[in-house]
Amino acid sequence: MIEIKRLHKSFEDNEVLRGVDLTIGKGHTTAIIGSSGSGKSVLLKHIMGLMKPDAGCVFLNGTCVTDLSYHELKSVRKKMAMVFQGAALFDSMTVSGNVGIGLYNHTDMKEKEIRKRVTECLERVGLHGIEQLSPAELSGGMKKRVAIARAIAMKPQILLYDEPTTGLDPIRANSINDLIVDLQEEMDVTSIVVTHDMNSVERTADYVAFLHNGQIHFEGTVEELSASDDIVLRNFVEGVDEVDKIAA
Ligand SMILES: Nc1ncnc2c1ncn2[C@@H]1O[C@H](COP(=O)(O)OP(=O)(O)OP(=O)(O)O)[C@@H](O)[C@H]1O
Ligand SMILES: [Mg+2]
Repeated sequence: MIEIKRLHKSFEDNEVLRGVDLTIGKGHTTAIIGSSGSGKSVLLKHIMGLMKPDAGCVFLNGTCVTDLSYHELKSVRKKMAMVFQGAALFDSMTVSGNVGIGLYNHTDMKEKEIRKRVTECLERVGLHGIEQLSPAELSGGMKKRVAIARAIAMKPQILLYDEPTTGLDPIRANSINDLIVDLQEEMDVTSIVVTHDMNSVERTADYVAFLHNGQIHFEGTVEELSASDDIVLRNFVEGVDEVDKIAA
């Protein structure tokens, strides 16, 4: 359903994406892994249509989204929702305002229906009675859950998570991983999880793509990832620094 073809993106002389090719299967969870600064968030922003590539295309059900006008893109975006790295909640709004923002701005739902949907989505992510709190009053784990509630409120077909477990203790991280799996099954969505947390990959993903030097260096199932003896991939998965290895 999502096909990324020969995607290139540079920021001045920083060549971040150097011909990314990747197909993301419908109804599955694909993890995109890679070291910090490798371009994972940049890649997600291209899938969402929030960034324009220098060359190449992201096809969504056969349509090249990177070529669409602002107006056309709006209807495509309704099918997708992103849980941003660091939650990205609006501090000036209540939790309720944050979760309902897409519904207020992009649907003609009535206030009462929106409030009902907001409460349902908060309940779904395990949060009760916090509608009137401000984001500043929430813990890091709660903020991630609110960000997930905001994403599912739009009933998307594609859910993109950027580092959903980063900064959480292992128990909170695992409860977010379980939530990703449960939502996947319940909503029958296509999920993309960007992460450098290998535990999160093992718990949530069917398929894994490793972004390295601006390209997909490896792709395969979680089992194929474990069995691979590719040295660059192994070093990443096992957290070995190339410099440390040379010194050893
Ligand atoms: N808007 C931008 N303008 C200029 N450079 C950018 C912009 N966005 C990203 N970059 C650069 O692109 C590279 C990849 O950034 P990106 O945020 O995609 O990394 P990442 O893989 O998500 O890292 P992390 O795991 O730390 O989140 C970095 O060198 C970054 O500085
Ligand atoms: Mg990132």
